[in-house]
Amino acid sequence: MDGKAFGRTSLLCTLLLGALRVCSGTVTVTVSPKVEVLKGETVKLPCSYTVSPPSNNVVVEWYIEQGTRKRVAFHSGNGNGRIDEGTPLTHRSTFEEDFTLKILSVQPSDELVFYCQVTAGPAGVSDASTMLKVFFPPEKPQLTRPSSQAISVGQTTSSQIGSCLSMNGHPQPRIIWFKNDQPLPEVKDVKANTYMIPSVVKEASGLYTIKSDLYMQPTKEDKDSVFQCIVEYSMPGDQVKQEKSNTITINLYYPSEKATFSLLNTTPVKEGDNVTMKCETDGNPQPVFEFTKNKAPVPGESGFLRIPSVKRTDAGLYTCTAMDFDNLDADLSGSINLTIQYIDPVNVTPAEPQVVMLGDKVEWQCKTKASAPHTVQWKKGSEVLSQDGTLSIHAVTYDKAGVYRCVGAVPSVPGLTAHAKVNLTVKGKPMIEPPEAAEVGKDGAVTLKCVADGFPLPQFTWKPSGKESVQVETNSATSTVTLQATPEILRDGVTCEVSNEFGKDSQVFKVTQKEADNSADRVLLTGNPVFEPAEHKQAGSGGVVVAVVVCVLLLLLLVALIYFLSKTKRLPCSKKKGKDVPESEKVNNETSLIQKGPATEQC
Ligand SMILES: *[C@@H]1O[C@H](CO)[C@@H](O)[C@H](O)[C@H]1NC(C)=O
Ligand SMILES: *[C@@H]1O[C@H](CO)[C@@H](O)[C@H](O)[C@H]1NC(C)=O
Ligand SMILES: *[C@@H]1O[C@H](CO)[C@@H](O)[C@H](O)[C@H]1NC(C)=O
Repeated sequence: MDGKAFGRTSLLCTLLLGALRVCSGTVTVTVSPKVEVLKGETVKLPCSYTVSPPSNNVVVEWYIEQGTRKRVAFHSGNGNGRIDEGTPLTHRSTFEEDFTLKILSVQPSDELVFYCQVTAGPAGVSDASTMLKVFFPPEKPQLTRPSSQAISVGQTTSSQIGSCLSMNGHPQPRIIWFKNDQPLPEVKDVKANTYMIPSVVKEASGLYTIKSDLYMQPTKEDKDSVFQCIVEYSMPGDQVKQEKSNTITINLYYPSEKATFSLLNTTPVKEGDNVTMKCETDGNPQPVFEFTKNKAPVPGESGFLRIPSVKRTDAGLYTCTAMDFDNLDADLSGSINLTIQYIDPVNVTPAEPQVVMLGDKVEWQCKTKASAPHTVQWKKGSEVLSQDGTLSIHAVTYDKAGVYRCVGAVPSVPGLTAHAKVNLTVKGKPMIEPPEAAEVGKDGAVTLKCVADGFPLPQFTWKPSGKESVQVETNSATSTVTLQATPEILRDGVTCEVSNEFGKDSQVFKVTQKEADNSADRVLLTGNPVFEPAEHKQAGSGGVVVAVVVCVLLLLLLVALIYFLSKTKRLPCSKKKGKDVPESEKVNNETSLIQKGPATEQC
């Protein structure tokens, strides 16, 4: 090998060695490039590394970037991790064994770049950075109207419409304006018609409070526009969220172009109604109105003209007029031709109560006038008797007596009616309505009702008499009597007699009693014992007779047996005698036996 060759070899070696050295002396640090956390929570910033060649002397340190790098924690290989004094993290963080930097109660000011730096002696130094992102949702935005007066249309400068405020967000949120649910493009040029003036305040907490004032030159169309603002903010995981404010409208002044005068009553106006007429313009605010009736001024009240309980004389031509100083050319007037429907009180002839004799004729006339075609009806109760104003009754009966009403009505105007009443009394002799048969009750009493038509009201007489009460109606009376049912009443009934100055009437009321009563009940009803057929009377002793007969027959049988047994020893055909004895004789024999013999005791 010559010198030159050696030199080359040596250079190559050096290069190789150098390369080897570079290859073997490597430090690789691994961190999360971005860590996101909500304000107030705890965050962990992990750090790991590889070193080659392996080294026992590795130092791991965490730095923050605040203009310059500042160390916040370090770990010297074999010892424990330590937190540096005098940094923003000093009392809120720990350095874990696995080189994770743990920060408690994260603040917006912790949003920094963190470096994990690893120094491994001969292997060298390396670091990696973590961006810590801190989030906090802002409060619901508050939209307010400026305290100043209404905004007039047609002004040459823009006016403030509203102010939107959203407090305490992180990172800084943004405000978007909406008019009638359409977003307004963000314009900051104050020479534009519509623009926004944004502002932001960083609170001591590190959170952002943002505000945006909206300026516009509203037109009349904006009188009903609805304004709203929305705050848009970021949350971990690239989320973008929004929160809506309350809504506002503009208190907008715009000139009137025409007036409307309208009747608020929904049904045809009739006498007695309360009438309300309203005058308004299409401008804002409403001007002051003046009202007239048939050209004479009448008082109104802020656009309303009210007439309580109108009369027909209130009909006429009403007008309202107004003056708008922003629009002097406009004709701001309206008119209403008020018509009032009416019906006169009905007039009945004859007006006095009518008293007629049974069978006579009676007639009434009923008349009225109204503002529109009307009807006249005669009614008794709900029954319609006549449609033409004349009510005549030929040959009146008692049931025609009572109150008759004449009702006048205007069908085209609901509720427009007039009424009158007349009273018909029918005089005559009393007449008892067909009686109903009455039944005796459990207590032995019977109640009877005698209904008699007639006027003057009749007097009642009951035969026989009992406890009476009388109920009186217009042309009839009812007498109720309660009496104890006697055999005479059951046989002859009870008589009801009625009479007045024109005559009398009488009716017999039959009294019956229920069938299938037992004797005990009958005794109770009449108060006297009731005669009963003999067989019924002896029913109780019948049982004793049967028993005695059976006993006698048995005894007879016994005697016959003894006799037969005693005879068989001497006379084998002794049966004959027993059979020949007549039945009646047998009974007689036995009866005597019963009276004498001890065998009776067995019965
Ligand atoms: C009219 O108004 C008065 C007072 O408000 C009220 O008492 C009355 O019932 C009203 N009349 C009608 C027909 O509505
Ligand atoms: C108002 O109405 C009445 C009845 O409908 C009519 O007779 C009268 O001419 C009207 N008046 C005006 C001024 O229109
Ligand atoms: C009708 O006349 C009768 C008899 O005179 C009287 O009792 C009644 O009160 C009167 N009714 C009316 C509504 O006038």
